[in-house]
Amino acid sequence: MKASNGRLTREQAREVLLKIDAAVGATQGREAREALVNALRSSVPTYSWVGLYGVEGKDLVLDAWTGPAATEHTRIPIGKGVCGFAAKAGRTEIVSDVSRDPRYLQCFLSTRAEIVVPVFRDGAVIGEIDIDSDQLDAFSTLDREFLEAVARKLSSLWS
Ligand code: SME
Repeated sequence: MKASNGRLTREQAREVLLKIDAAVGATQGREAREALVNALRSSVPTYSWVGLYGVEGKDLVLDAWTGPAATEHTRIPIGKGVCGFAAKAGRTEIVSDVSRDPRYLQCFLSTRAEIVVPVFRDGAVIGEIDIDSDQLDAFSTLDREFLEAVARKLSSLWS
């Protein structure tokens, strides 16, 4: 297999999508979202911290998450940080090196890269997937496509 430095491979992406279907299949709501973040983090070594934020009025509010530590950013105004930017713009944001992005709001000293993927329902952003990696340049186009597919699954798991 081609070396991937722990990054997602196409084969793995297919397997993880199946794993997510199995993990969330028997559950609903918050429990299903917990199962989803756990399946993501345990399957991809570069996904150091995986969280979901839901849109509440003008803010993003932390929902299910999994990782070595809790974040102090449990409520982020839409427009602030990489998370708020992605929600406002309605598009996936990949930050290869967080130290070079002035939008970045720090949660963990170990984070080097971040990806934020909006979740849509009826054309509106209802939440997002936020993943921090301890590896520089951890996220590729494959991660984007994969996580956008996960976001489409998530859309129906949000009440
Ligand atoms: N880094 C994010 C804040 C959320 S923490 O990564 C969990 C941002 O810049 O919006």
